Amino acid sequence: MSPDDKTENEAMRADVAQLDADLACEELARLAKMIDEANTAYHTHDAPLMSDAEFDRLRLRNAAIEARFPDLIRADSPQNKIGASPAEGFGKITHKRRMLSLANAFSDEDVADFVSGVRRFLNLTSEDSLAFTAEPKIDGLSLSLRYERQRLVYAATRGDGVIGEDVTANARTVADIPQHLSDAPDILELRGEIYMSHSDFSALNARQSAIGGKVFANPRNAAAGSLRQLDPEITRARPLRFFAYAWGETSRALALTQTDAIARIKALGFPTNPLFRRCPNLEAMLAAYAGIASHRATLGYDIDGVVYKLDDLALQERLGLRSTTPRWAIAHKFPAELAWTVLDGIDIQVGRTGALSPVARLRPVTVGGVVVSNATLHNEDYISGRDSRGVPIRDGRDIRIGDWVEVYRAGDVIPKIRDVDLTRRPVDAAPFQMLAHCPECGSPAIREAGDSVRRCTGGMSCPAQAVERLKHFVSRSAFDIEGLGAKQVESFWRDGWISTPKDIFTLRARFGPGQPRQLKNREGWGAKSADKLFDAIDEKRRIPLSRVIFALGLRHVGETTAALLASHYGTWDSLRDSLRAARDPESAAFADLIAIDGVGPVMAQSLIAGFDVEAAQIDALAECLEILAPEARASESPVAGKTLVFTGTLERMSRAEAKARAEALGAKVAGSVSAKTDLLIAGPGAGSKAAKAADLGIEVIDEDQWLALIGAA
Ligand code: IVH
Repeated sequence: MSPDDKTENEAMRADVAQLDADLACEELARLAKMIDEANTAYHTHDAPLMSDAEFDRLRLRNAAIEARFPDLIRADSPQNKIGASPAEGFGKITHKRRMLSLANAFSDEDVADFVSGVRRFLNLTSEDSLAFTAEPKIDGLSLSLRYERQRLVYAATRGDGVIGEDVTANARTVADIPQHLSDAPDILELRGEIYMSHSDFSALNARQSAIGGKVFANPRNAAAGSLRQLDPEITRARPLRFFAYAWGETSRALALTQTDAIARIKALGFPTNPLFRRCPNLEAMLAAYAGIASHRATLGYDIDGVVYKLDDLALQERLGLRSTTPRWAIAHKFPAELAWTVLDGIDIQVGRTGALSPVARLRPVTVGGVVVSNATLHNEDYISGRDSRGVPIRDGRDIRIGDWVEVYRAGDVIPKIRDVDLTRRPVDAAPFQMLAHCPECGSPAIREAGDSVRRCTGGMSCPAQAVERLKHFVSRSAFDIEGLGAKQVESFWRDGWISTPKDIFTLRARFGPGQPRQLKNREGWGAKSADKLFDAIDEKRRIPLSRVIFALGLRHVGETTAALLASHYGTWDSLRDSLRAARDPESAAFADLIAIDGVGPVMAQSLIAGFDVEAAQIDALAECLEILAPEARASESPVAGKTLVFTGTLERMSRAEAKARAEALGAKVAGSVSAKTDLLIAGPGAGSKAAKAADLGIEVIDEDQWLALIGAA
């Protein structure tokens, strides 16, 4: 940097120091537009609007303003424009059929379990043959393309599986995606993966670094960043590719098997993966996996595993879906990527449930193309070389600060430590000692019987727990309030503006216009940004039940369970009342809770306890909200909203399948007969349940009548 540049820079910084938030906000908008136009002109039209130095000056000024007003950073900030284009900038599209993800298998045994689970579900005997397909799992991002009367009408990203982003204009720029089809059903939703090849990725990064743009960490990020551009001209300049592998709504069936459907999709003009194979049995599936793995290095694009799907589409239909994954498919992931480095330290983090988690501070090392400097160490047992039952892991080798450790990562998951090299251990390395007190609040940290971690006993008086709970509450899968991220939550919490979730919804009343202390006067805020936040909060007062349940952050209750609970209980009142009634483990409410597919006794206890201990907070929150019942998926079905009990032997399908079908039709399936039961389906050998149902005057039908009732006879 020349002395001239230096003075110019200083002058610029002094100037930025004078700005107030409103002016800064306007200028950031102007800079975003100018830089964006300059960018497009430069690398889409090869017709620069300004010199490189001028371009750099705009970016520097933008960076300086953002550094001073971090809360004003725009979603389309030129600083991270690529790969960070905002979801808000895109229209939303509700998928006609949900876009699913896949369950994972990590070993041959997991795959064998998957196959035998499918057989069991379908009540097959060992003589019945059952074919699957195998194909590479492409490491990109999924896209749904809707064709009506042979024309592409829209393209949407997966989003949360229910609602995705409208990226139609961008998808139209991808050469692999046909805009017109011939001989296709009138309605066809085609799904597949957008990805970038290794060579295109390297070339793109070289161009990006030449123009001072963002350099991507891997082809997946580059593909995502390129597709999710607000300006489709940028997408056009990026070499994106597409493989089709699935479909959503279709007005006519594509075929009877996955294999034939893929052939049909290929005939329609979509790229399909050449390594796709039909596998008549488990051995063939594992052989296909080995074959695909052996091609991995020379494919020229990233894959992270093999996807197996049941070949027969009618059987796929019978197996149906769990909350976010189909029962008829699984992803067999490749083993994780590995590297050795030095463990420089172990920090203890306190999570939202009070768990003390050891985090490894590592000498930075590249693992599979990403620089890793932190990794989870799970818990104190893991560090000492035992599992929670005391069984040795790593042959009992413990991990100490100063050790050489082997780090691995698989997909997007947090890196982990797998092994330790005792031959390189420093002589003075001491065994690790877990803290007996919470490092944040000093409360005793206690490990309960059966728990693998120590937990801070400070509850909501522990600042770490309280603030982590709030951060979780506003996170993307929970309330997802625009402008209220982890950073803002921390700062409001520090100043006592919010201490429980409910407080978020009273921010406007307490710090809005006319109040003695106002948000707009806070450092980094202005009238516009404050108003925007209040509006964004109000927008989230109407919120789906599943999000509220997830947002509560109860132990063991992730997104999937939250969705299951929402569809089971339907309304907030029913959920809350049932969980309170379920405090009695002998109650029908408890039996009903653990009968939900996917809810075990541990999760049930955690839910019940959570609703019990936090009752006041939860009620106060609910009062601020309008909680929306899940869309009545199957409200037209004759069993929607009814409570059913199956008893005796079913002959035409397994119990698991019967239950899954009933739930898919909107029924609740309970384990025992009570006054709430609407219908008992009794097979041969039905005993006391049938007698009790008769006593209670409950309708009893047999399996054939049941199948007729649901239209499956
Ligand atoms: S099938 C009904 N096949 O993996 C299941 N997915 O981890 C729909 N993916 O969301 C997915 N390659 O984005 C399927 N050959 C393949 C795939 C594939 C990549 C992605 C897809 C999905 C994710 C699940």
